[in-house]
Amino acid sequence: MRHLMSPMDFSVEELEKLMDLAGDIEANPAKYAHACEGKKLATLFYEPSTRTRLSHEAAMLNLGGNIMGFSSADSSSASKGESVSDTIRTISCYADICAMRHPKEGAPMVACRHSSIPVINAGDGGHQHPTQTLTDLLTIRSLKGHLGNMTIGLCGDLKFGRTVHSLIHALVRYTGIQFVLISPEELRLPSYIRSDVLDKNKIPYREVVRLEDALPNLDLLYMTRVQKERFFNEEDYVRMKDFYILDSKKMELAPKDMYVLHPLPRVNEISVEVDSDPRAAYFKQVQYGVYIRMALILTLLEIEVK
Ligand code: NCD
Repeated sequence: MRHLMSPMDFSVEELEKLMDLAGDIEANPAKYAHACEGKKLATLFYEPSTRTRLSHEAAMLNLGGNIMGFSSADSSSASKGESVSDTIRTISCYADICAMRHPKEGAPMVACRHSSIPVINAGDGGHQHPTQTLTDLLTIRSLKGHLGNMTIGLCGDLKFGRTVHSLIHALVRYTGIQFVLISPEELRLPSYIRSDVLDKNKIPYREVVRLEDALPNLDLLYMTRVQKERFFNEEDYVRMKDFYILDSKKMELAPKDMYVLHPLPRVNEISVEVDSDPRAAYFKQVQYGVYIRMALILTLLEIEVK
């Protein structure tokens, strides 16, 4: 049985197959409309979510399956003190596959060790967010036509942003990738990712503080929100939260084919005026998130549609 804990759980070839399947789902939705009939997805969300939970649910519903779950720890027995391992043993009796989001790093990993159904990590603390990365890869491949040979700017909260951590792990496997890490000093990419992932794979990168300095040379800009919930004190968050605001004026500095991605939710880091710029791709990204999760559910459940 297969789980998804990190984007590294799939080889580059497997990712290619998964994205091809997502492409076929996009082109022929009717072919997949009954593929998961009789199957149930449980969403176990111990942290807030809009897109990740609802896109997993939409994916299962589009496949003709059913959904169940909880959307906050308060409404589950976690609030009574139940452990993740007991909860997953229980859910294994009810559902065929589950997606779990948890504020603690490694909680979905604990779950998969006690589970008799596939577990999808839907975000664990500041660690990983593999299904967002699958979404991002499919979005980049669809917009640019390929995944290598690109300079990618990662901007915002690179310290706590799990979407960035997962995306870096996944992208270093493609040739010709370079990163520009754009963050305030306090929110730099953790040193273990710089040394264990970037340096180890000999990936060229530079760190800059000013977004304006990076913009002219990027093929892609991945914006992120300052992760309020991971800060130890409110004051630091308030000081950092509006450090970057991408607006139409700054977009003038960027190449004509530099797409802007964002895992969402956005707070102030992309001004709404940018939404009408043809390079703004963050709502397209949301749509790709459904196709790739449909492909993921089929793959983990080992369902082949002819
Ligand atoms: C992200 C997350 O939860 O890590 N959201 C998402 O799933 N699309 C990004 C964020 O919350 O900033």
